Order: sequence, then C-alpha cells, then structure tokens
Amino acid sequence: MPTSSPTRSLRLSKQLLIGLVAILAAAIWNPSRLDSGDKQLAKSVYRGNCAACHGTDGHGDGPDADRAGFPVPDLMVPKLRGGNGIGQIRHAVANGNPAHGMPTYRGKLTPHELDLVTWELIRMRKAFARQVPPPPPPVSG
Ligand code: HEC
Repeated sequence: MPTSSPTRSLRLSKQLLIGLVAILAAAIWNPSRLDSGDKQLAKSVYRGNCAACHGTDGHGDGPDADRAGFPVPDLMVPKLRGGNGIGQIRHAVANGNPAHGMPTYRGKLTPHELDLVTWELIRMRKAFARQVPPPPPPVSG
C-alpha cells in the first residue's frame, strides 16, 4: 500500500480547503467588525428570542427553562454538543430541535438576524471564557 495514494492527497487537499475556509470565515466573522447598530440588534435578538429559556447570560436558566419540557443546555460550556463553529451554531439555531424543546428559527428570524444571534452567542461565549480562569494544570511527577 503506497503511503500517498491519489485519494489520500485528494482528501488532504480537501481538508486544507476546509481549513482555509474556516480561517476566512473566522476573519470575516470577527465580532469587533460589526457596526454598533448590528451589535445592539444582535443583543436584542438574543434577549427577545433566546433568553427566556437559555437565560440572559446563556446558562440555561431562563424563566421559561422549566417549561421547555427538556433540559435547556448551558450555552457557555466549553464544547457545545452541536459544535462550536459559526456554521454549526447557526445551523443549530436555524433548524432547532423541536422534538427536544429547541424551536426552529429559520423563517422566524431573518437570515441577517440568524447571523447576528449566532455572532452574539459567540461573543458571549468568548466573554465568558475570559472570565473563567483555566483549570489548574495536572499534577505531574
Ligand atoms: C423554549 C425554550 C428555548 C428557546 C426559546 C431557545 N432554546 Fe435553544 N435550546 C433549547 C433546548 C431544550 C435545547 C436542547 C435541545 C436538544 O436537546 O437537542 C436547546 C439547544 C440549543 C443549542 C444547541 C446547544 C448545543 O450544545 O449544541 C443552541 C446553539 C441554542 N439552543 C441556541 C438558541 C438560540 C440562539 C435561541 C434564540 C434564537 C434559542 N436557543 C432559543 C431551548 C430553547
């Protein structure tokens, strides 16, 4: 079996492409580039649609959390189940998971509002991560 078969290098270049796209997306999605109107809108979309269940600070402790019928996840955890990427979060919000208490927002929010609320979540997660000191390193020896 040759170590670098055509399929293997094809797979590699596909991974490279995905990596590049991810880097580009991250650069474009830099939250600090949103204008102040969009920043305000992003906050109000979150507060108006999500905070009832997920809580103002995203910890899953909103006033309606008990009525969702399913455990409302803390969105500030280091790893979201659906993935931490921009596309993954937007997908989770747009599609929801109605069978598990998460409404579908495609059609309820405009594509721009979906982008903004995704950005707002990422901003909240970054701010939260900065507040929490990293866990102590494992004791070695
Ligand atoms: C009625 C309560 C409710 C509302 C309102 C709600 N959610 Fe959720 N959300 C849930 C529940 C319950 C889940 C877990 C669903 C599951 O188990 O798959 C969830 C899951 C999620 C997830 C996936 C978390 C993961 O770990 O992958 C994201 C992201 C999310 N919600 C964001 C939002 C955003 C953004 C809004 C507002 C636009 C919103 N939610 C509004 C109840 C709600």
